Amino acid sequence: MCGIVGYVGNRQVSQILLDGLHQLEYRGYDSAGIAVANDGEIAIRKTAGRVTDLDKLLEANPVNGSLGIGHTRWATHGETTDVNSHPHIGGNGEVVVVHNGVIENYQSLRTSLTELGYVFRTTTDTEVAAHLVAHHLEERIKLGDDADDVETCIRAVQLSIAKFKGTYGLGVIFQNFPNLLIAARCGSPLVIGIGQGEFFLASDASPLVGYTEKVVYLQDHEMAILTPHTFDLLHRDTGQQSPSIQTIDQVSSDSDLGDYPHYMLKEIFEQPTTVQNAMRGRLDLDEATAVFGGLNLDPQQLRRVDRIVLTACGTSWHAGLVGEYLLEEFTRIPVEVEYASELRYRNPPQTDTTMVFAITQSGETADTLAAMRECKRKGHPTLAICNVVGSTIAREADGGIYLHAGPEIGVASTKAFTSQVMVLTLLALYLGRMRHLSYQAGQRMIDKLQQIPQQIEKALECYDVVKDISPKYAHCNNYLYLGRLYNFPVALEGALKLKEISYIHAEGYPAAEMKHGPIALIEEETPSVFVIPRGSIYPKVMSNLEEVKARKGPVIAIACEGDEKIAEMADDVIYVPEVDEFLQPLITAIPLQLLAYQIALLRGCNVDRPRNLAKSVTVE
Ligand code: G6P
Repeated sequence: MCGIVGYVGNRQVSQILLDGLHQLEYRGYDSAGIAVANDGEIAIRKTAGRVTDLDKLLEANPVNGSLGIGHTRWATHGETTDVNSHPHIGGNGEVVVVHNGVIENYQSLRTSLTELGYVFRTTTDTEVAAHLVAHHLEERIKLGDDADDVETCIRAVQLSIAKFKGTYGLGVIFQNFPNLLIAARCGSPLVIGIGQGEFFLASDASPLVGYTEKVVYLQDHEMAILTPHTFDLLHRDTGQQSPSIQTIDQVSSDSDLGDYPHYMLKEIFEQPTTVQNAMRGRLDLDEATAVFGGLNLDPQQLRRVDRIVLTACGTSWHAGLVGEYLLEEFTRIPVEVEYASELRYRNPPQTDTTMVFAITQSGETADTLAAMRECKRKGHPTLAICNVVGSTIAREADGGIYLHAGPEIGVASTKAFTSQVMVLTLLALYLGRMRHLSYQAGQRMIDKLQQIPQQIEKALECYDVVKDISPKYAHCNNYLYLGRLYNFPVALEGALKLKEISYIHAEGYPAAEMKHGPIALIEEETPSVFVIPRGSIYPKVMSNLEEVKARKGPVIAIACEGDEKIAEMADDVIYVPEVDEFLQPLITAIPLQLLAYQIALLRGCNVDRPRNLAKSVTVE
């Protein structure tokens, strides 16, 4: 992960870098730092902690200059200490580097560089990159290259990255070149912002909003050579490229917290709107189906699809599981949901007519990207269900469907989940209507779908009950989340939310499967959260609930309004509106998000920036 920023131009750079790092903090927040070139010196300020800690450091000890790089870290190699924070110095300070990714062969490179006399001050993999560039710079000069020529710096970076195994997004500046910024990409995203007499570098476009609309997304094995008035783009294999300039949407207002104390709460409460946005313009009432503008596959190709693979990580994977139930029920096409981290190295048999969907909020998750590329390489149509417009996965997929949920900033995903589920429901309707689903069945689905935003609005009213009951349970250290059919993935997602932000051990399970192990955990201090709305298997889930009660386990039930029976059985009930079974995840996920949020608050956890996590995981 990690976030990178950079700037070369005429403005004072440190505030630009700091603002950019605040935007990118979702990518990691273990430590932060900047390096600014001025008067033949490169000043570095860095600290373990958040970007706000770096703000304070710079207030006390400012730096001037108009060339700089910055970094916010999610630690992979080396503890989160001041010294391990980026930027890192190469040689005796001739080169300074920020890096996102993992240099997998750093140990052997470190050994060779140590033998050459380079002194390592940190335990990071990145310091190898800094020393290696410094080493090649020195070597080239010894071999007769001009020490004052930018070409020598470019060559030093090229020779260095040729030795890396792994992934990198790099920003490199040089002590003797106060107007030169070099960026290189392999596997970790980088975007260049084009200004008037200035260029910006960032891990995504968000830090560029307000400065420029014109951007160039670097591709793997590309290198950008930036000075205030020039931008050269070099590809490892094909040399000089002409940059493909794109326009970014200047939408930043959604990033404001408004009156909410946390982004997570704001995003939970946005769901009536975000789910509506996922549907907007995609319902065809005349044909009783859904429409998508960007699938880039014609109906004949889609009709031939005989297998669907959904691949994702984390919450998006849970949305994929709901998608499996939906697609199989409405389209009768067999669906596999694959962890992207497994799929990328597995070699499962796939038919010629398998269609692959990568599901991802950020569009940058390294494993999801790699799994998608692997499927693409094998010739399958690869499509993305993605939130971030212009992200790597959105760009590389053959086609796809955007969520239109707006920026999701809370690290624990909430609104992206319901939007993904909504898009998958529309997909089930669309592919279903190409196959077995009748016009009338399509119309019925559409009628129900159109009511969902209002029903989510209603479900959010349960927040008062959640606030009331949470103090009773906030001290417990183990939870079970149980549900069946469409509510099994919801149980998994509820448990993940609690784990992520409260640091409580929570397991999601199919309610009936609980008898085969987890039931051993039941005791008076282990609450079970049952997702038990009315539906075809309500009595079965109720039996599972009784099994827990018989063992004195406390039960919190997520149930349908008007269900009085459940009130007799469960210790506490959180009521939500009743909807058709296939739409239940869109409703039952809401109280679970709120419950996790409230318990995290009561335990004094940092809801939006939970420890060890990052919003966008761009390393394996
Ligand atoms: C990280 C985030 C999760 C997210 C997962 C997949 O672990 O903390 O919230 O679900 O990555 O991210 P993606 O952007 O691909 O949906």
